[in-house]
Parts: sequence; structure tokens; C-alpha cells
Amino acid sequence: GLRKKEVSVLCLGLDNSGKTTIINQLKPSNTQAQEIAPTIGFNIEKFKSSSLSFTVFDMSGQSRYRSLWEHYYKESNAIIFVIDSSDKLRMVVAKEELDTLLNHEDIRNKKIPVLFFANKMDLRDALSSVKVSQTLCLENIKDKPWHICASNAIKGEGLQEGLDWLQGNFS
Ligand code: GTP
Ligand code: MG
Repeated sequence: GLRKKEVSVLCLGLDNSGKTTIINQLKPSNTQAQEIAPTIGFNIEKFKSSSLSFTVFDMSGQSRYRSLWEHYYKESNAIIFVIDSSDKLRMVVAKEELDTLLNHEDIRNKKIPVLFFANKMDLRDALSSVKVSQTLCLENIKDKPWHICASNAIKGEGLQEGLDWLQGNFS
């Protein structure tokens, strides 16, 4: 058959935002993990969509591992950035990490798509995706295609919408 285009995706965001839960949901059900522990360092996951073959670098968001992120900027074709919409206290930390990422020399001039998941939308005090977008000042991103989806990674809601957008935005 036709070979699918291979893309390398970097999954970033603070610890406990839901990155591994999201990636796990995107994998075929027979390869999904039943329990998810905080990521140590990073994990590499592979899955296919209708047109693409994904290699995802699921990075740990713990502060002690965030210095690993930049080593994978050069080879990435897209970024998935996950936010815990209910973690209002650390939204400013998420913004700092996002700004550092977007200003990095290996990312700044790359026109790669950035998909945001405003995750944990099921929690009562979660901010809406519009509010998350405003808090992170996403409208300031002018040089890359970006998109934000509200998601509930536990139920898998919002994830396919995000993946569909991503599929349509690889150059
Ligand atoms: P690190 O690997 O430490 O960077 O964390 P992570 O971003 O990979 O988070 P992980 O996927 O391990 O999820 C952290 C916790 O949040 C787990 O207990 C998940 O079950 C929970 N969680 C993930 N997504 C959601 C969601 O949409 N809603 C709710 N209520 N809980 C979620
Ligand atoms: Mg993880």
C-alpha cells in the first residue's frame, strides 16, 4: 500500500497536565496502558492515523526534566502543548514555559503547527479554552499555525478534533 508520511511530534506541558493520558488515548486500544504514572524523562510512542505515521516524544513535565525538551526541538514537525485548565495557580508557569519554547532558536523560525489541549475540561473549576487561550496570550503567535481544543483525556473527548487539525497543518 501507500506509505504514510512520517511525522515527529513533541508533546510538552507541565507535569500532571495529562500529556501521557492524551497520547495513550490516541494509540490503538489494544496497545493502551491501563494505568499511567508520571513520566520519567520521556517516552517514545508510535501510532498511525488515516494519512500519517506519528512518532510522539512524550516528555516529562516535571521541572527537573524540562531541560530535556530543547534537545528534541530541531527534529520535531509539530508540537502538542497540554495545559491543565483547572490548575489556575500554575497557569503562569505554563505561560513561562510556553514563551521560553516559542523564543528558542530552534523553534522561533520554524513554521511548525502547535496544537494546544486545554485539558481536564471535565473538572468543575476548569477554565474554558477561550480563557486558557487569553491567559497564555496565544493570539501573539503570528508565525506558526496554532489551534486550541478543550479536552477530557480520560474520556478521550476533544482529542480527535485536535488530531484532525494537526493532520491538515503539516507543511
Ligand atoms: P508528567 O508525565 O508528570 O509530565 O504528567 P502528564 O502531563 O503526562 O500527566 P498524566 O497523563 O500522567 O496525568 C496526570 C493526572 O491527571 C492523572 O491522574 C490523570 O488521570 C489525570 N488526567 C489526565 N487528563 C485528565 C482529564 O482530562 N480530566 C481529569 N479529571 N483528569 C485527567
Ligand atoms: Mg507523562
